[in-house]
Amino acid sequence: MVEKTTNSMSESIAVKPKAEVNNLNFYYGSVQVLKNINLALASKRVTALIGPSGCGKTTLLRCFNRMHDLYPGNRYEGEIILDTDGINILSRRVDPIEVRMRISMVFQKPNPFPKSIYENVAYGLRVRNESRRNVIDEKVEKALRGAALWDEVKDRLKDQAYNLSGGQQQRLCIARSLATEPEIILFDEPTSAIDPIATMSIEELIEDLTQQVTILIVTHSMQQAARVSEFTAFMYMGEIVEFDDTKTIFTNPSKKQTEDYVKGKFG
Ligand SMILES: Nc1ncnc2c1ncn2[C@@H]1O[C@H](COP(=O)(O)OP(=O)(O)OP(=O)(O)O)[C@@H](O)[C@H]1O
Ligand SMILES: [Mg+2]
Repeated sequence: MVEKTTNSMSESIAVKPKAEVNNLNFYYGSVQVLKNINLALASKRVTALIGPSGCGKTTLLRCFNRMHDLYPGNRYEGEIILDTDGINILSRRVDPIEVRMRISMVFQKPNPFPKSIYENVAYGLRVRNESRRNVIDEKVEKALRGAALWDEVKDRLKDQAYNLSGGQQQRLCIARSLATEPEIILFDEPTSAIDPIATMSIEELIEDLTQQVTILIVTHSMQQAARVSEFTAFMYMGEIVEFDDTKTIFTNPSKKQTEDYVKGKFG
């Protein structure tokens, strides 16, 4: 059950969680940026993270795929349990490379590799030592179809990824993250660098992806959160102030801070 943790009437929502964050604290060196985060991601649903600049949204997202391990001095406390097999992905015993296979990330700016369209999508498969040409072909096509890009690129797979438009590049990055069949995809403001039409197609795509994966998306656009997500967490100064279904957060939040933020009174 996904609990609405900050609601005093704490009801259960009848959706299985895919991952549960329990008492998570995070520190950049001696500076604590995340404070006692508790959150459940509903399986095969979209959860949105909103909140003013600097409140810790990206920092929280990066905990989910152990990105902070890449820099010395960063420290996690608490746990993120993957319900598939009960592992704590923050545990030192769990290999961050394995975590990144299971939980992939799409960034704010499309960041294709300086390779062909095909090789961008095949990349993760090759890293995983897949060398059978027919298997790679099949998975590349499946991922490009999943990212709603196949029809536009099927005749130019050997072209450089940089020749694609911004919106196409972002869908290519989504295809790259899909190729390894992750369980969760993290999106950090995925449409802030692309135009409104491309944004619409990415939003439609995100909805379609919930047939296969669980999604956590950071967005600065209230409209986007309202359009794509089923659950929303409002963060402020490193804490989750309120977590509920998206409709409640936008129409009937229980905390004054949430109401002020969604009404545009600050941030
Ligand atoms: N590598 C780092 N080292 C030290 N402090 C950091 C680092 N990255 C972020 N911070 C600090 O952590 C806090 C949270 O930053 P974070 O990037 O998570 O915020 P955010 O909610 O994603 O903001 P935005 O909406 O502007 O993207 C900020 O005070 C930021 O300055
Ligand atoms: Mg950010």
